[in-house]
Amino acid sequence: MTTVIVLLLLPVLFASLFTPLSHASPSILSEQNAPKPRHSKLLKSAIQRQTSHEKQAELWMPLVDQGWKPCVESDTLPSFPENSQGYIQVFLDGGLNQQRMGICDAVAVAKILNATLVIPYLEVNSVWQDSSTFLDIFDVDHFINVLKDEVSIVKELPDEFFWSTREYYATAIRANRIKTTPIHASANWYIDNVLPVLESYGIAAIAPFSHRLAFDNMPKDIQRLRCKVNFQALVFVPRIRELGDALINRLRYPPGDDEVVGTKHFKDVSNAKRKQGTGNFVVLHLRFDKDMAAHSACDFGGGKAEKLALAKYRQVIWQGRVLNSQFTDEELRSQGRCPLTPEEIGLLLAALGFDNTTRLYLASHKVYGGEVRISTLRSLFPLLENKKSLSSSEERASIKGKASLLAAVDYYVGMHSDIFISASPGNMHNAMVGHRTYQNLKTIRPNMALLGQLFLNKSLTWPEFQETVVEGHKNRHGQIRLRKSEQSIYTYPTPDCMCNA
Ligand SMILES: *[C@@H]1O[C@H](CO)[C@@H](O)[C@H](O)[C@H]1NC(C)=O
Ligand SMILES: *[C@@H]1O[C@H](CO)[C@@H](O)[C@H](O)[C@H]1NC(C)=O
Ligand SMILES: *[C@@H]1O[C@H](CO)[C@@H](O)[C@H](O)[C@H]1NC(C)=O
Repeated sequence: MTTVIVLLLLPVLFASLFTPLSHASPSILSEQNAPKPRHSKLLKSAIQRQTSHEKQAELWMPLVDQGWKPCVESDTLPSFPENSQGYIQVFLDGGLNQQRMGICDAVAVAKILNATLVIPYLEVNSVWQDSSTFLDIFDVDHFINVLKDEVSIVKELPDEFFWSTREYYATAIRANRIKTTPIHASANWYIDNVLPVLESYGIAAIAPFSHRLAFDNMPKDIQRLRCKVNFQALVFVPRIRELGDALINRLRYPPGDDEVVGTKHFKDVSNAKRKQGTGNFVVLHLRFDKDMAAHSACDFGGGKAEKLALAKYRQVIWQGRVLNSQFTDEELRSQGRCPLTPEEIGLLLAALGFDNTTRLYLASHKVYGGEVRISTLRSLFPLLENKKSLSSSEERASIKGKASLLAAVDYYVGMHSDIFISASPGNMHNAMVGHRTYQNLKTIRPNMALLGQLFLNKSLTWPEFQETVVEGHKNRHGQIRLRKSEQSIYTYPTPDCMCNA
């Protein structure tokens, strides 16, 4: 059964995985039905937009102090469990950012149980297809060291538990596997249900694990610990940080016309005499891959061929389990349920006042429709860069084709940008919003429902569009929002991870 499904999925996955970002995509979109700009009237005005210097200066100004500061240490003396109750093992699904939250929760669960955590196992995701381990992505020694006074963590299980592998749990029902953890379980649930297993077997494997620890009614110290893991213990391995730093450096101090790097054949940027740049840049996270496009069930203007291709993909991957497909495109748009296309996010940025000298770094794995779709965005923002345009293939060799490592580089660059914006409210967006809130950094949160409605109105003029967009985003530039019940502390870290200064 499993084999059959895997075989069915492979052609689809391969077709979409290796679409290079900066080259015309050899996808189903032929020239005739390539997506044309859908909002050509707005686009035409946007290309000719004029922005005042005052408006520009205001946009790039860092956020003012909002009266909160990071606060992740325990109020009481940290207590290290003296007699570990046994080992906790977790297997984490999803892409990098979902796994990140899983790691934070795993540390918290180990603490709740006074158990020893084994470095989490990262599952290979069917979309991202990356087998990178925790050690390939995160600095494991730093991780253990930051948490050393509070939680016992080991890189590997001791020999007596050699049998406790992913395969062992995948092949039969095992008494020490906890399989039925409810979504958002309480700390007491783990004490009642996992502790007895630890006591009997010395090890408990919890899978599935993601999103299984509640955000509400948690002891304050456990919340703080989750924050500490997310914001302090998890740092990327040096090779990811080094590549990220090189990209950031090239964004802040763009090379001169006579120098060439990456696709632009820059050679040695560190020694090169740099052209005077403004130094500021925006990171735009654009998750507009086939998977996302298909899952949203929205119409992205690629005509009949695209519609059919997405419907087919939807059928193969989710077998009719996509909730959105029962709504019309218009309904989905006005509810804000469609990811913004590269054209739409470009119009948003232009309306907010970013001019055509804005340096835009595209944090993106692949863009469905390829260069055809990107070109509209490029017409609004000619200084459009990405990993590929800013580095050489030798520099990228160690992360090539590895979705999690590529995402990690984008995460790192995103954390160092003046402004971050995401075209769809997914895991990367949430992780970034949370982490940047923690550091009081500017993050624009698109008002998806407003934009969806505006884009449906074909008679709107550019000044009307611009005014409504600016008004509708006044409080969406990084102003602190307190976490509401059931919301994630990783997206809304105030007040759980922060104190009133
Ligand atoms: C940027 O916009 C200005 C003002 O509309 C225009 O004169 C200029 O040609 C544009 N530059 C590019 C590279 O598109
Ligand atoms: C864990 O250890 C702390 C402090 O030693 C203790 O108060 C708590 O009851 C223990 N919890 C469990 C589940 O054993
Ligand atoms: C479209 O925008 C115009 C101009 O603001 C407005 O008069 C009209 O009512 C809008 N149409 C719809 C369907 O919202």
